Amino acid sequence: MSEVKTKGGMAWDARLYNAKHDFVWRFGAGVVELLAPQAGERILDLGCGTGHLTAQIAEAGAVVTGVDRSAAMVAAAREAYPALMFEVADACDLPFAGKFDAVFSNATLHWVHDAEGALRSIWRSLRPGGRFVAEFGGRGNIRAMQEVFDAVLVELGAAREAGEVRPWYYPSVGGYAGLAEKNGFEVRFATLFDRPTPLADGEAGLRNWMTMFCGEYLAKAGEQREEFVRRVETRLRPKLFRDGQWVADYRRLRLVACKEHDAVQR
Ligand code: BEZ
Repeated sequence: MSEVKTKGGMAWDARLYNAKHDFVWRFGAGVVELLAPQAGERILDLGCGTGHLTAQIAEAGAVVTGVDRSAAMVAAAREAYPALMFEVADACDLPFAGKFDAVFSNATLHWVHDAEGALRSIWRSLRPGGRFVAEFGGRGNIRAMQEVFDAVLVELGAAREAGEVRPWYYPSVGGYAGLAEKNGFEVRFATLFDRPTPLADGEAGLRNWMTMFCGEYLAKAGEQREEFVRRVETRLRPKLFRDGQWVADYRRLRLVACKEHDAVQR
């Protein structure tokens, strides 16, 4: 099984990601439309995962590079799309200067707590006038789910209080747009919207999602991991299980911002 430990202690399993979480890039197709890649453009796909959206961008004739912090994801992307370029890189430390016409990112930046570090790094990677087009979890994303994760950890005695585990960063539109402006971008478009997201695999959907994405919570639950998952399922069922399917309470923040021509990072 392809697996690697990343900085946050999160294990990324590329096979589970491909098998049960294809909604990540299927919904991401709308963000590719917003990017509107043109033939010959140089585009960076930041947080490319297993490379499916990178390949869609390449189909438009763009010259695309995919980067991801997970070596396992990059290995899977290279295997699936050997003609494309993929590299392991951290969002806050991208090894590019003025190279790209656009930086694209889907479902990644909610993992990056150092939002300004990432914005500075994206800014450096773009040519003047280049665009940054992103979608990720925004304020209120998985609110119902996270409240239950927190409550159950406390109930099991695995945490003293809610909020001890904070794997994700979900900014408001105003908060994130402000950070983008502060770091040399002109924000052209920003919105926050509910996007209830059906999880694959019927009854097992939430459990699969937690296995894939909740490494920090599961580690905190320790030997009580199975009991943690069972209690979470019981609590969330009335709200999020409909017609034989779990539906995650996702909210997305979408942003289009341009690197100012005369910008100096402030
Ligand atoms: C999201 O895409 O909103 C998300 C994915 C994994 C964990 C938390 C949120």
